[in-house]
Amino acid sequence: MFSLEITKDYQELSEKAAELVAKQLKKKANSVLGLATGSTPLGCYEQLVKLYKAGELDFSEVHSVNLDEYRGLAAEDKNSYRHFMDENLFSKINIVKEHTHVPDGMEENREKACKDYDAKILSVGEIDLQILGLGLDGHIGFNEPADSFSKGTNCVRLTDETIESNQRFFQSKEEVPQEAYTMGIGSIFSAKKILLLVSGKAKAEILEKALRGPVTPRVPASILQFHRDLTVLADEEAASALS
Ligand code: F6R
Repeated sequence: MFSLEITKDYQELSEKAAELVAKQLKKKANSVLGLATGSTPLGCYEQLVKLYKAGELDFSEVHSVNLDEYRGLAAEDKNSYRHFMDENLFSKINIVKEHTHVPDGMEENREKACKDYDAKILSVGEIDLQILGLGLDGHIGFNEPADSFSKGTNCVRLTDETIESNQRFFQSKEEVPQEAYTMGIGSIFSAKKILLLVSGKAKAEILEKALRGPVTPRVPASILQFHRDLTVLADEEAASALS
């Protein structure tokens, strides 16, 4: 069972998402937040910055773990997810930089990068609230369709569909890294609460598959149907294929 809330548009979705994060932080000031990058959570982050500036939110005790990072991109690279988070959220609120964690894209040794990030995730404690976006192929984090659900952090080869979809942030398709480090489905699933944000017509079909279809690693997000505390916020366009 999950709770599904359909909003009229992206703005309303973003406001509702920020309200849920705010509620979590008011309940527990030292919450661990699982954070996502991409277009979908941007509006929510903007709202969180607004609430912070209005004196309504305090991030000083918050810890965060991000879902993923491109392998081969440095923190300073404007396309890295670390840079994305710094730019769009961390630099605008009073979170302590050392409390924010993103996989190390510059660690070339895949095994070490994954082990280190798993250790980081364990060290911050249970994720209280995990924010997720939804990939066009059903991926969450960068966990692409596969034969089994991943457990811990893993290094993935991005699918052509994901590379093409993410190309919009780069100058050319060739510049999009082919691999990424991502938190595993097992770690994502261990979060106490999950908030899945889905916006736009292009996501309607995959959202329907993820929420109503069989639970299968071929649609990684479908595992969320089994989660005990999942809230799905979808705008009308994204929800248009749900009966
Ligand atoms: C990003 C991430 C990805 C995105 C997904 C949707 O950290 O983990 O799973 O959430 O690719 O991306 P957008 O929101 O850009 O459509």
